[in-house]
Amino acid sequence: MQPPLKEYLYKVLVVGDLGVGKTSIIKRYVHQIFSQHYRATIGVDFALKVLQWDENTIVRLQLWDIAGQERFGNMTRLYYREAVGAFVVFDVTRASTLEAVPRWKEDLDSKVTLQNGKPVPAVLLANKWDQAKNGLSSELPKLDQFCKENGFVNYFETSAKVKPSCLPKT
Ligand code: GTP
Ligand code: MG
Repeated sequence: MQPPLKEYLYKVLVVGDLGVGKTSIIKRYVHQIFSQHYRATIGVDFALKVLQWDENTIVRLQLWDIAGQERFGNMTRLYYREAVGAFVVFDVTRASTLEAVPRWKEDLDSKVTLQNGKPVPAVLLANKWDQAKNGLSSELPKLDQFCKENGFVNYFETSAKVKPSCLPKT
């Protein structure tokens, strides 16, 4: 007889300033596609990533792709409800998007917590890493410290455009 299947559904937020690549990261992760064309998200978009975690377990990640133009607005409280994880994204070619990260984190922490009252675990994504040589490279080694100071679990260098094996090493 087959053991019962376990299924989990997790709501995960993706936030950060306009044009940092939130939609692109999600499209890459869920549909394995990338487009150079920029169309700003309006409000919020959704995507579902289904992971066969192991033989008996299916994990569904409901990704909430929140428009950068919602920046700390009234709507974010509604969008954040019942999230169990978050990605805060910045663009390594634009310092202002990194400067905005603590405000996104504060926005999250002030509007949503886990059921036990703890902050929703958040991961920082340093996106457009394929463009890092044009960007904030001198700032980036400090991201470890930045994560500690701002309550991030960790950070990852990402590119929605280029395969990891083609990215510059740090
Ligand atoms: P809003 O919806 O306005 O908040 O923006 P967003 O964060 O969803 O950004 P989006 O994914 O639409 O990407 C903005 C632009 O950056 C697009 O032109 C993308 O093609 C480009 N882009 C996104 N990710 C990357 C990346 O990793 N590398 C490069 N080179 N370009 C990227
Ligand atoms: Mg978008």
